[in-house]
Amino acid sequence: MSYKGLDQSPKRIIFTSVISTLIAATMVIILISSYGCGGGNGPSNLPNGTPSMNQVLQGRAILTSFGCVDCHNRGVNNPSDSNWLAGYIPNPTGAGKFQIGPFTTYAANLTPDKTTGIGGYTDQQIYNALRYGLDPASTPSVVITSTTPGQGNFPSTPHYLAPPMPWPSTRNMSDNDLWAIVAYLKYGIKPVSNSVPASQGPPNFWASSYTSSAIGPYPLPSYPAGNEQFTP
Ligand code: HEC
Repeated sequence: MSYKGLDQSPKRIIFTSVISTLIAATMVIILISSYGCGGGNGPSNLPNGTPSMNQVLQGRAILTSFGCVDCHNRGVNNPSDSNWLAGYIPNPTGAGKFQIGPFTTYAANLTPDKTTGIGGYTDQQIYNALRYGLDPASTPSVVITSTTPGQGNFPSTPHYLAPPMPWPSTRNMSDNDLWAIVAYLKYGIKPVSNSVPASQGPPNFWASSYTSSAIGPYPLPSYPAGNEQFTP
C-alpha cells in the first residue's frame, strides 16, 4: 500500500504555507479592525467591544434616576421627548443654563450627534468625563491609571468640565455603571442636532474649584471610614 496523500511535493508545501499565511493575515486584519477604532458608531472601547441591550437598559435606568435630565433635558424625564438629552435649548425657565460667579455655563448635548453632541468622542473620552471630570473636547482618548496630574496619563493641566456638572458624584460609580451610561448615550439614543453655546470658565479650567478639600477624596477611603459602622 502506498500513502499518496502524505506524499507532499515541495510545490504543494509552498502553496499550503502561502494559503495559511494569507488566512493568518486576514485574521489579523479582522482583529485590528474590530478593536482599532474608537469613535463614532463603530466598534467601541466598551469593555466587551460592543454595547449590549442590557448595558443600554442599565444606562437608561441610571440616567433617568440620577437627575441628569434636570440639566440635560430641561427638567423633563421622558425619553419620548424629541429633544431627549439634547442639552440646553433656550426656554422660558432657563433650565440648562447656569450662572457660576462671572461665568455662564450650559448643559451639553449628550446625544450621539457627531457635530453638536458627543458622537465625535470615543467611549473612553465619555468614560473619562464621568470618572475624572475631564472635558472630552480637550482631553485625549487614553486609559487613565492615576489621579495625580502628569501621572498615569492623567493630564498635567486637567481641563475639567464646568460646574454644575456633578462629576464629583459620578466618579464614585462602579465601572460597570459608568460603561452602561456610556453605552446608553452613544449607542442607545437618537442623535439630535442642537448646538449648545460653549460654557465659559476660568483660565485654569476650574482646577481650583475641584480640590479634594472642596469635593472630597478620590477614591473614597475604604469602608468603614471615620463616621461609618456596619450594624446589621
Ligand atoms: C446640575 C446640572 C447637571 C447635571 C445634574 C448633570 N450634568 Fe452633565 N453637564 C452639565 C453641564 C453644565 C455640562 C457642560 C460642562 C462644560 O461645558 O464644561 C455637562 C457636561 C456633561 C458631559 C460632557 C459632554 C461634553 O460634550 O463635553 C457629559 C458626558 C455629561 N454632562 C453627562 C452627564 C450625566 C451622565 C449626568 C447624570 C449622571 C449628568 N451629566 C448630570 C450639567 C449637569
